[in-house]
Amino acid sequence: MKERLKTAVCPGSFDPITNGHLDIIRRAAGMFDRVIVLVLHNPEKTASFTTAERVDLARRSVADMENVVVDTFGGLLADYCKMKQVAAIVKGLRAVSDFEYEFQMGLMNKKLNPDMETVFLITAQDNMFLSSSIVKQLASFGGDISDFVPAPILTDVERRLKEK
Ligand code: PNS
Repeated sequence: MKERLKTAVCPGSFDPITNGHLDIIRRAAGMFDRVIVLVLHNPEKTASFTTAERVDLARRSVADMENVVVDTFGGLLADYCKMKQVAAIVKGLRAVSDFEYEFQMGLMNKKLNPDMETVFLITAQDNMFLSSSIVKQLASFGGDISDFVPAPILTDVERRLKEK
């Protein structure tokens, strides 16, 4: 019997993708057959980068991972996962402050799509403090973001954030 490949989705606004995201994606890629990095709209945030830019930055950052692809979707994450027969959503958990929001999202996604699981990976200690917003704030004050943003996109992210 042919076994179905297990697909996971790493969803987020990726505005922009950081080394923290990349660590979670890389670890998910080691656990699942295929990982889709899914660039979504978070209605609670105003994005600094356009969707096309966020997808492009994510694609260039995961180019060395052979079982990882990047996609975008304008609707509900649970609907996308149904459409693509996704087995699990993988998210990184940084601290207790992330938990309540992620727990609520996980419950809602399970209600909308009971066939799918949410898996939380504990963020690497070095990335505990890292977020796209802190990277943007640091760059806007001329700080060095090279430790926090994937090397292939560093120059473009710096240039783009200086334009703002
Ligand atoms: O990186 P973020 O901003 O924390 O990611 C949040 C995101 C984009 C995954 C979340 O806002 C999302 O799933 N948006 C798509 C709409 C949706 O499915 N919402 C959850 C059920 S109401």
